[in-house]
Amino acid sequence: MCGIIGYIGSNECTGFLIDGLKKMEYRGYDSSGICVKNGSLTILKREGKISELEKSMNSSIKGNIGIAHTRWATHGEPNEKNSHPHMSTDGKIAIVHNGIIENYNSIKELLIEEGYKFVSETDSEVLAHLIDKCYNGDLEDAVTKALDNVEGTFGLAVIHEDEKKIVAARRGSPLILGVGENEMIIASDAVPIVSLTKKVVYLDDNEIAVIDENSYKVKRLTGESVDREVQEIKWNIGEIEKKGYKHFMHKEIHEQPTAMENTIRGHINEGKIKLSVDIDVEKLERVVISACGTSWHSALIAKYYIEDIVDMPVEVDYASEFRYRNTNLRENDLFVVITQSGETADTLAALRKAKSSGCKTIGLVNVVGSTIAREVDSGIYLHAGPEIGVASTKAFLCQITGLLLLALYINQEKGGTNDPKLIEELEQIPSKIDEILKHEKDIIKIAEKLTYCRNFLYLGRGLNFPVALEGALKLKEISYIHAEGYPAAEMKHGPIALIDNEMPVVFIATEGKILDKVISNMEEVKARKGRVITITDSRDNKVKKLSEDILYIPKTLENLTPFLSSIPLQLLAYHIADMKGLNVDKPRNLAKSVTVE
Ligand code: G6P
Repeated sequence: MCGIIGYIGSNECTGFLIDGLKKMEYRGYDSSGICVKNGSLTILKREGKISELEKSMNSSIKGNIGIAHTRWATHGEPNEKNSHPHMSTDGKIAIVHNGIIENYNSIKELLIEEGYKFVSETDSEVLAHLIDKCYNGDLEDAVTKALDNVEGTFGLAVIHEDEKKIVAARRGSPLILGVGENEMIIASDAVPIVSLTKKVVYLDDNEIAVIDENSYKVKRLTGESVDREVQEIKWNIGEIEKKGYKHFMHKEIHEQPTAMENTIRGHINEGKIKLSVDIDVEKLERVVISACGTSWHSALIAKYYIEDIVDMPVEVDYASEFRYRNTNLRENDLFVVITQSGETADTLAALRKAKSSGCKTIGLVNVVGSTIAREVDSGIYLHAGPEIGVASTKAFLCQITGLLLLALYINQEKGGTNDPKLIEELEQIPSKIDEILKHEKDIIKIAEKLTYCRNFLYLGRGLNFPVALEGALKLKEISYIHAEGYPAAEMKHGPIALIDNEMPVVFIATEGKILDKVISNMEEVKARKGRVITITDSRDNKVKKLSEDILYIPKTLENLTPFLSSIPLQLLAYHIADMKGLNVDKPRNLAKSVTVE
């Protein structure tokens, strides 16, 4: 949800800033802009992709201090005047902002009364004028005073024509400081920083940082200084390159066997599960899981795992709903958040609410050092590596891996016996995913036939119901085809009315106690001339006969089928979107990291 970046140092920075924006384009991509200081401030903004901004760059735009922004519109449509940076009227102050200023209307009215002129419809522009109003020769002081009047969220970077520094501040939107040799960076994400330095400092909420070429200082917005240690990013720049793939999403689908191995690494030892999570299993009575988007689908799968393996009640809630409900959390509940980015605003708010009720919190997080990773009591890092494609793939697989390990761990710590076959088979899953990836051509053939369908249904039961939801979400996110996921048996309570001879119905029909029931649902679709596409590990002839197309996945234990059944669905969505010529990695209106409500 918007990406901001700033540079101060000994080098000309426009190339770095544009490159940094491109690396963060998945955070938002409807317009972008840059402002550099070379004596005075020079600004350039463009509607559309960052490539539009890049095309318009010229040699007059250069400097050693600069800020830049890629936008995901909240207030005001995506156009040049609403894009950032925003400037004070005299052109001396420029700001880039990620977040929402909730009281911008009242601030704007006051500023207009005082004669300030607004050029955009954004909430962010008030910050430029408010900082200008508070400016009295010291940018740090002006930003501090201005933010004292602001309600809402911000990741903010500000420069002034007369000062050799960048002032940055955060509340609710992530900000990371990169500490280089004679250069400092500030960015919403570590991804653009790693090309210059792996040394980073994570800012916390209500902190302000002042950076110059050689130093940084961090303070609370209330004035107390903060001693924040420098941390080292562990992953490499190569992990954020496409490596010959046309899209990051395709690369990330293919990375899944390795990503899953990385999630498991160090957590299984001679059949025992080792996790560094702080859970009082003796007292544990209930698990409550909260997440958004794809991570919420992982949570639904975790519900099956914990209920089945630990025999303990589990509740799953969208974080956006959880945060405003009377959730009745109790001290003996374990609250689990699942998040790839570790920055999703609703998930963070749900976590904070749970913490305030006094129960233990655990996070399954991919991005190391992210806000949620730092705020949970303990957790499991997924180690999926950077996920750049907006549609989540490898993070989903690694989340369900981590969640299964968590269920097994709780059971083990409670004195239960885990099925050794399940643990052994879990370790075999990466090679079975490899098998599926080798048969990608079969999926491409099906994608070719279905590219121009307007609606899809995805049906599954039990553990594969969340997989159906996830398959439908993947398709709609990147191909803009309407798709719905349902528990297969619920079809007869509504979706069945949609079925005709143009409607593909994707069944996840894996071996297990309810396969026969799913076959009956397939019959019902067939009887209405629907087009049955099946993902299965079953050699049952009925399944084959009922299917217009069938994709076989390797056999595994029933509990582990989501690890395999989700892969062809990711590839199906990917190839359909690619065949339609769509921008798979950056689907319209979506953002990878949703840091606004
Ligand atoms: C956005 C992304 C999804 C993601 C969801 C939750 O909508 O586009 O891919 O599943 O946010 O994000 P999180 O980082 O919390 O897992």
